[in-house]
Amino acid sequence: EKGGYPHFMLKEINEQPAAITATVSPRVENGLPDLRIPELSDEVLRGIGTIHLVACGTAMHAGMVGKAAIEALARVPAEVDIASEFRYRNPILRPNDLVIIISQSGETSDTLAALKLAKSRGVPVLAIVNVVGSSIARAADHVLYTYAGPEIAVASTKAYTVQMCVLYLFAFRLALARGEQTEAEIRRLTAELLRASEVIKPRLADCEQIKYLASRFVNTQSCFFIGRGFDYSLSLEGSLKLKEISYVHSDAYAAGELKHGTISLITEGVPVIALATQKQVYEKTISNAKETKSRGAKVLLFTTKDAVVPEGVADYVVRLDDYDDLLMPLQLIVPLQLFAYYMAVLRGCDVDKPRNLAKSVTVE
Ligand code: M6R
Repeated sequence: EKGGYPHFMLKEINEQPAAITATVSPRVENGLPDLRIPELSDEVLRGIGTIHLVACGTAMHAGMVGKAAIEALARVPAEVDIASEFRYRNPILRPNDLVIIISQSGETSDTLAALKLAKSRGVPVLAIVNVVGSSIARAADHVLYTYAGPEIAVASTKAYTVQMCVLYLFAFRLALARGEQTEAEIRRLTAELLRASEVIKPRLADCEQIKYLASRFVNTQSCFFIGRGFDYSLSLEGSLKLKEISYVHSDAYAAGELKHGTISLITEGVPVIALATQKQVYEKTISNAKETKSRGAKVLLFTTKDAVVPEGVADYVVRLDDYDDLLMPLQLIVPLQLFAYYMAVLRGCDVDKPRNLAKSVTVE
């Protein structure tokens, strides 16, 4: 049932190209995104006030990528909420807002409660769900299914990737409907998104390199992920994955925040995983990585193919292929998942069933 893989997690990481194609291609019509939800017509999309993306854990991290894409392309204000916070904080919801609920299982109790709160306030709810007929899918006004297939490993991998894909498609359609991007630009981005399954294949093939790198960090007690923009969202997800399955303490910081406190923890040999895939802030992140390196950090840098990495910044560099900065999370997540996976394997952890965790959290 693991299809020849030693763990479900590794199988599911490798299923990502197929999951992306299954999720994206049915929603592209003549080169443009089509949500195939008649009630979310372009006219309705034009009337949306604020978008609230609400979820837990990894699904919430997908929401962060969605927020950034929505705001960058469609210029609609978007907020990301942790479901267990949203439901108890009397959120400000207006009738023309849209709540987007994200859940792999469709059964997470806090997420379902957040959905019910939004509905009780008369705000329309769009759910992005992987399990057909789940409680969240049934309770939402509209559903955009992700087609990852069953995800068995407790650590979410392929579900996260396709949640991001659906959010990109949504952001593209919203931007088009609102006239914030030209049709030509949305066509270009849609074609790039369709290409994601091919873009990530070489990253899956890099697994031996990532396994080697994990072996260089395997005895670490604690590490830090840093990045800016999309790379910050990916830092949070890479860090969560590592903690969840390898039991290595890890923290993720917006790279510019380091010097507001955390840098005091950087001493000789402390691992820093620096993510620098975004051109606009590349120099800034590199200079933050350098600040940690000069205090003795062991720096593992993830960046793009042609990026110039100055001396004294990193001990190890992992290169990604060229891809649109906006979609780079789809490529960057793969080595981060593999890094967490091999760290867990090399540390002898129960990869698919980490202690104290359940696949779906149906209690508060
Ligand atoms: O089924 P859901 O997407 O609602 O689950 C949300 C979180 O519990 C889940 O993403 C969790 O954070 C993962 N185990 C992380 O890998």
